[in-house]
Amino acid sequence: LDILNVTELLDALVALGTKLRLVLSFFTLRSDFMDYKTILDTANAIKEKLDNFTPKVAIVLGSGFGEVIDSIENKVEISYKDVPNMPVSTVAGHKGSFIFGNIENTKLAVMNGRVHLYEGYSVDQVVLPIRVLKLLGCETIILTNAAGGISYNLKAGDLMALNDHISVFAPNPLIGKNIDELGTRFPDMSCAYDRELTKLLSDTAIKCGIPLKEGVYAQLTGPSYETPAEIRMLRSLGADAVGMSTVCEVIAARHCGLKVVAMSLITNLACGMENKELNHKEVQEMGANITPKISKLIKSFVPLLKG
Ligand code: HPA
Repeated sequence: LDILNVTELLDALVALGTKLRLVLSFFTLRSDFMDYKTILDTANAIKEKLDNFTPKVAIVLGSGFGEVIDSIENKVEISYKDVPNMPVSTVAGHKGSFIFGNIENTKLAVMNGRVHLYEGYSVDQVVLPIRVLKLLGCETIILTNAAGGISYNLKAGDLMALNDHISVFAPNPLIGKNIDELGTRFPDMSCAYDRELTKLLSDTAIKCGIPLKEGVYAQLTGPSYETPAEIRMLRSLGADAVGMSTVCEVIAARHCGLKVVAMSLITNLACGMENKELNHKEVQEMGANITPKISKLIKSFVPLLKG
């Protein structure tokens, strides 16, 4: 070996090491572990602005679900940017504030907008607000999102309650030192989506005349939409819908003992199922069309949740 070859070999090894580390850091190592104190400080900063209001039900509003806000009474709005440690969304059309208030007698904490992994936030940051909502007093969380339909039983404009998820394509928020104050090291996920609450949501949907389907949601990181091959893979794995959020939040919510009910708005058929390209604007426009139905459903469902 001459000197030049050795140098090249070393360079190649360093490059390979960097690539491997990058891949590993995505699935295993944590870049900025958020400890319990940070979560508690964040919750306390919100509490200070709330005047003894204790929310019982949390709602995370994804794209298409924003109109729910209009049904909330006695609103107090706190912008994410005014809360220490809170990540702030960078995506057009995604909002960023907590709204506290009530629908009938149910005290609510609503997240109008969330941040996503694809914005570059760590999974710790993505799930911080979920943990904060628990510390504020919430017992139940309703998560909503926009998703692409993979199942042949879904069409654009459908609503789908989640009855299970596939999390293996997104980082798990519980990797790293367990936060014992929040929950156990190995939380059970056999029934992540509360069966009773999901049944109650379905019954409410029927009463409102809004068809609600059920299925399995897979979270990928985005931001690129999936390829047709990835959609075929997801279908063969049992996914009915795909999106870029929610599952990390559900895992964090179950870890800290929140009851979960979740719902997707199917804004489009997944990539490769129709002879056209996907774009963010169309996804948002479909959201806007169906939003009155969604708010009617949530407005009828929330008062049924016991404080
Ligand atoms: N894929 C991923 N996320 C999405 C989609 C999709 O097709 N539609 C809305 N969010």
